Amino acid sequence: MTEKDTLSAKALTLISHKLRTPLSIINGYSEAVLSQATKEKFSPFTTKALGEIHKQGNRMSLLVDKLMAFNQVITADEQTLEKQPVNLKSVIKECAEKAIAQEGVAEKGLPAEQTGGVKRGTFIEIDCSSQLTLNANEHMLKLCISELLANAIKFNNKLEKTIKVQGTNHGDSISISVRDYGVGIRPQDVSKIFEPFYQVDDYFTGQISGWGLGLPMVQRILDLHRGSISVVSDRGLGSIFTLSFPL
Ligand SMILES: Nc1ncnc2c1ncn2[C@@H]1O[C@H](COP(=O)(O)OP(=O)(O)OP(=O)(O)O)[C@@H](O)[C@H]1O
Ligand SMILES: [Mg+2]
Repeated sequence: MTEKDTLSAKALTLISHKLRTPLSIINGYSEAVLSQATKEKFSPFTTKALGEIHKQGNRMSLLVDKLMAFNQVITADEQTLEKQPVNLKSVIKECAEKAIAQEGVAEKGLPAEQTGGVKRGTFIEIDCSSQLTLNANEHMLKLCISELLANAIKFNNKLEKTIKVQGTNHGDSISISVRDYGVGIRPQDVSKIFEPFYQVDDYFTGQISGWGLGLPMVQRILDLHRGSISVVSDRGLGSIFTLSFPL
């Protein structure tokens, strides 16, 4: 990295840190006031406005978190990257539980327990041997799986969403694939989705939120592990994203 890049990375980290405190105050207070809505008999407008403040506050917090994670991954160095043996099945399970729990917050701007249940029709099926161990940076591996799961949930308009995650040992590599039956990606967009800030047009995906940082981050993490990412997708039928880690 050049000196200028290092300075930009430092500035981004500092800005993100500084934004965290006011955002957590906005989110905390709006949630607390919103919980009084029925007792205090707020007007529909006040309740709606508070709900919107809370929703957008949560979105901003997620953006700040993602910017920080992106920055961390971009500035990481392959030579000094910490790796440890990771049990793949338990990592996938942890990420799946988190993805389902977060879905309610992202969509409604309210904690999942206030939105009528955690599952909301999303089912993540895991097919992976409990013996499968991968030598990787655990935090980054979780980021990869979480980003792919978040996309698989987000770019799917169906009421019932089924996602299949598979971990496979190929002898010389270990692959993790995430399959969804959502909107799919047009062939002309497939090569562009790994570019930072690239998002396919709203009208096609019916997109809920996002900044186009997830896949570039996953790509960079795979580069740091000397692995690769590939995608097979059919418009209207869904997508399969596959991560491959050399052994
Ligand atoms: N599983 C998927 N199905 C359909 N389209 C997808 C899928 N995953 C990614 N895409 C497309 O690729 C684009 C880039 O994905 P990426 O994860 O980088 O960004 P994002 O999800 O839009 O935003 P962010 O990850 O920063 O919240 C998405 O905007 C979407 O158009
Ligand atoms: Mg994403």
